Amino acid sequence: MTGFTVALVLVVAAAGLLRWRRPAWYWLTFGVTLASVRVLVRYATVMDACGLTVPPSRWRLALARAANRPIPEFRPPRILRLRPTRTGLALRLKLRPGQDAFDVAAASDRLRHSFSMYGVTSRELRSGVVEVRMTGYDVLKRVQMPSKTDTRPMRVPVALREDGSVHYRDYRAIPHALTLGATESGKSVYQRNLVAGLAPMNVALVGIDCKQGVELFPLARRFSALADNPDTAAELLDALVERMEGVYQVIRAEQRITADVPDAEIAADIWDLPDHLRPTPVVVLVDEVAELALYANKEQEKRRDRIITALVRLAQLGRAAGIYLEICGQRFGSELGKGITMLRAQLTGRTAHRVNDETSANMAFGDISPDAVIAAIQIPAEMRGLAVAGDSTGGWHRIRAPHTSLRQAVNTCNRHADLTPDLPELAPFRPALPGSSADPVPLSKTAPATA
Ligand SMILES: Nc1ncnc2c1ncn2[C@@H]1O[C@H](COP(=O)(O)OP(=O)(O)O)[C@@H](O)[C@H]1O
Ligand SMILES: [Mg+2]
Repeated sequence: MTGFTVALVLVVAAAGLLRWRRPAWYWLTFGVTLASVRVLVRYATVMDACGLTVPPSRWRLALARAANRPIPEFRPPRILRLRPTRTGLALRLKLRPGQDAFDVAAASDRLRHSFSMYGVTSRELRSGVVEVRMTGYDVLKRVQMPSKTDTRPMRVPVALREDGSVHYRDYRAIPHALTLGATESGKSVYQRNLVAGLAPMNVALVGIDCKQGVELFPLARRFSALADNPDTAAELLDALVERMEGVYQVIRAEQRITADVPDAEIAADIWDLPDHLRPTPVVVLVDEVAELALYANKEQEKRRDRIITALVRLAQLGRAAGIYLEICGQRFGSELGKGITMLRAQLTGRTAHRVNDETSANMAFGDISPDAVIAAIQIPAEMRGLAVAGDSTGGWHRIRAPHTSLRQAVNTCNRHADLTPDLPELAPFRPALPGSSADPVPLSKTAPATA
């Protein structure tokens, strides 16, 4: 008897400790069973209390009356499936006549605390079928990506969504993207995750990092071209435009449309080309874009116009040539001068980290979704890396990338350095690799004093 009590106390203590220190492990060991039982036991009561039941149908009432039985109760949606996941539960419901998916979405906050879960979201799968996804703990507090993700070419699992699913950056679906955020909000970490995710793929990486290259130059071994100042950036972007034109020539040459070419074989972008002809796709990562758009004198203004024009052309025409833009900055609005709003309109994917004011959030989501603007402003300062990701369809999610350190990203890039393609157009911008003999540039503070 006492042995049993001691064991019970130990198990409860272990569960409590896990729940406090390692919520993900707690969920996989105890949480998932307890929560499933809780949801199934409380289901009918909770649905009733949340106003998600419908009165019995007429024929049931008539049947009950005829058989002289008590009046049947109100009925909740039918459970089609209850599936435990790595981070929570997925409940699939068949709605009753008269209910709609919006009822469930509107009740999600009530469902959340009625079932004692951390978060509840719902979405309609098909007419009358709704999936309610619940998370058992705050999955964004300490982001752990699942070991198995659905990888496809040009699709990077970059962050976790608040409902526990994986957020992908899919370059073929959303060619260009804009990432905004105040300083120290996690933009560079997000970009680093993208680079680490792209490194094992067959893709050329091009970086423009006008913060003297501190973010991207350590990853140089996987980059086909890098620029660390606006002058080089202008030349690099011109070279990319030239490459784009070259790729269009390849596509044109392959088209040769005659009546007997089947529709499926007509090439309109690089993915329609046969493998041996397909040019390597290029992802252009720009950190701190405002550095490219600011100018102090006439000459710099000319350079700025050249840069913005090249970026706009790449954004308008790059997709079919397999050139994708990934732009990061603190603000990206019309105050940066002409051409900026035109460029922004081409950047379909939007991600906003913490911003300091509503105008910055508006630059990301103002033209897409007002809810997302509010969600972006509400990101707390201490949750660095938390972001709101949306696209031009108006849908948005709270996401957070795993905290990949620079060291981890460097290791990933070095491991895949042999995949770095040599693009002839970009050869002049190929970063010089740091040799072991090269001395680091001495800082004036540490440089030996010349007496
Ligand atoms: N996803 C994240 N998870 C945890 N910490 C993060 C995350 N992203 C950023 N941070 C923290 O915030 C700091 C600043 O991030 P950084 O990406 O350099 O910001 P920014 O480029 O926006 O100025 C990082 O050094 C890191 O400590
Ligand atoms: Mg940064």
